[in-house]
Formats: sequence, C-alpha cells, structure tokens
Amino acid sequence: MNSSGSYQIASIANDVQGEIKRLKAQVNLFWDNEWRHYQEHGLANATTIIELGSGPGFLIEKLLNHIPQANVTGLEIDPLLANYAKDYLREKNQKRWQVHEGNIMQTGMEDNSYDVAITRLVLEHLPEPIKAVQEIYRILKPGGKLMVVDNDFEMHIMTYPPVPGLRELYDAYCQARFAEGGNPKIGRELPILLKDGGFSNVQFDIVNAHSSLLGDEMFFQSEGVGIPYKLMKDGFLSSKDLAKVSVGWRKMVQDKHHAIVRQLCLAVGEKPVE
Ligand SMILES: C[S@@+](CC[C@H](N)C(=O)[O-])C[C@H]1O[C@@H](n2cnc3c(N)ncnc32)[C@H](O)[C@@H]1O
Repeated sequence: MNSSGSYQIASIANDVQGEIKRLKAQVNLFWDNEWRHYQEHGLANATTIIELGSGPGFLIEKLLNHIPQANVTGLEIDPLLANYAKDYLREKNQKRWQVHEGNIMQTGMEDNSYDVAITRLVLEHLPEPIKAVQEIYRILKPGGKLMVVDNDFEMHIMTYPPVPGLRELYDAYCQARFAEGGNPKIGRELPILLKDGGFSNVQFDIVNAHSSLLGDEMFFQSEGVGIPYKLMKDGFLSSKDLAKVSVGWRKMVQDKHHAIVRQLCLAVGEKPVE
C-alpha cells in the first residue's frame, strides 16, 4: 500500500501530458449535467469555494465562468499540477482564484472559511478518506456544503453492443488502485462517509453522460489509452485482454445504434449550524 494514495500523475498513465488532456476531457464530458446537480445544491450562490485535489485547474475554470461572484481556491498536492493550474488560469485571463500546494488531509486553511468545498475524483485515491472529510468539515463555514464526486468502478463505461474484455480492464484497474491504497468503488460509500464525518442533510445523486447526447469524441478523449497501457506494462492486464478491448471498442462504435454511458457518484452534505 502507498500512503500517498493511488493517484500520482507521473505514474498512473503512460504519459503526463496525455493524462492532463484526459482530465480536461473528463471535466467537459460531465460538466453540463454536473453543473445542473451543483446548482440544485446551491453552488451558484456561493462566494467562497475551495476545490481540494484541483489538479490542472479545469474545474476551477468552469466554476469561475459560471459563478461570477465566487472566489475559488484550489488545493493540490502535486507541485507539477499546482503550477500547471496557475499557468493555465493566468493564460485564460481568469481572475478571482488562487491555487495552493497542499494536502487535503491537513490543508492549513483556517476554521470555518468556505461556503462550499468540492472534491472531485480524489477521495477514491486516498487510503483514509474519512480524515479528508473531517478536515473539510473543519474548514467549511457552519451551513457550508461539501460536494464530493467519485467513481464506482462497478459501473464505469457501459456500452451497446457490449465490448468484450471491458470488465477485465476495469477489474485490472481496480486491482492496481486497491494495491496502492485507493478505493475505486468508493462511490457507493460516499453518503456514509459524509455522515461519519459529521455532515447532515446528506444527499446522493448520479451524474450521467451518454454518447447519443454528447457525441463519441468526448468519450474517446476522456477514456484514452494511457491508463490501460500502463496497467498492461505494470502486469495488471494481459496484452491479449487489452487487444480484445481495443478490437471490441472499434466494432462497437461501428454499430449504427451504439451507445456509450458513464456515471459518477455525487454526495452532498451540510455542516450543521450549531
Ligand atoms: C483524478 S485527479 C482529479 C483532478 C480534478 N479534481 C478533476 O476533477 O479534474 C486527482 C487529483 O487529486 C490530487 N491529490 C491526490 N491526493 C491528494 C492529497 N492528499 N491532497 C491534495 N490533492 C491530492 C492529485 O494530485 C490529482 O491532481
């Protein structure tokens, strides 16, 4: 087990720039639906927002564009990604943001500081996610909300027609992440984690993406081959299984009625006003 968790951009995929591009596509893939859910939970009214595990800054960019009154803080453990986010947001002429290098387990932020905290595709990589939830509870204002988005790899990409070998690929991915101390099936546990962390009014939603509404390209870009190739190199996936998926995927998209569906879990909880 790896005490720093199961996401290091330098080793999770075959190349860092490719993985950054994939993260951007993954934000775009879900954004319309995700934003609808965030709005339902009051995000559009927030003035102080923190994203923990903010990576290259693509979600921060969306939040700044959609919430004109908000000031958005990013917290990111990897200096390469924290610096990437700073350069990216500056290049995009964004204002009202700051990005700090830091650890979600011990943020160094003051008590009772934020209206909303978002952590997206991060808890699934942590050996002790409850400690992150407790730390976020500390830095939220009373009445503030935590919005957590994570995968549950029992229900990753589903296709019509089915792609042979896709389940084996996800099983290999899960094995690799579990071995590093992550939990790629954390999605189903999110409401319990939030309650255990002291949050009230906990709610749970599924955020969907469907190829017939978004087009295939968005899915191609947000899946990519970087992680599957790395799983093969690291011995979690056989080259035969990888080839099976790639042949099956090509066949699937040629079907006139093909469909690609992916879902993320979203849990929201409120810090009680005492
Ligand atoms: C899969 S990426 C998601 C990035 C971004 N939230 C998004 O949705 O595109 C996970 C991010 O969490 C960061 N991370 C992992 N462990 C962390 C920790 N203990 N504290 C802060 N960030 C962490 C990683 O470096 C990476 O940038």
